[in-house]
Amino acid sequence: MNKQHVLILLCSGVFSVITGSTSTDEFTKQDLKLWQDEYMSAVKKGREVFTDPKLGTNGVVCAQCHPNGSNTHPETYPKFQKQFGQITQMWEMVN
Ligand code: HEC
Repeated sequence: MNKQHVLILLCSGVFSVITGSTSTDEFTKQDLKLWQDEYMSAVKKGREVFTDPKLGTNGVVCAQCHPNGSNTHPETYPKFQKQFGQITQMWEMVN
């Protein structure tokens, strides 16, 4: 890299900082916040469904037997379940 290349790089960097411009393939802080808020709202909803006995019909919650999601192995589905004798989706195992 010669001096001219370094100067061009520096100028474009300074220009980006001054104008606040980003290219279309970059995430802005606003994008990140939107994504995190959406993600955390799904986490909150999931936690409620997993722990709130008022949302079910029999007063039993998943967390009674699976504290903090223990022994649910969601990443292993779909998989063969011996007791059903077939490949099973996770929702079928939950039911
Ligand atoms: C009364 C206790 C109890 C409750 C309440 C309960 N589970 Fe389970 N769960 C078990 C047991 C025991 C197993 C293992 C069953 C088996 O392997 O045949 C299991 C297995 C599972 C599995 C399969 C795990 C694997 O190894 O692949 C999932 C997923 C799961 N439960 C999710 C849930 C969810 C979601 C809820 C709430 C809707 C829930 N469970 C409520 C006792 C419970």
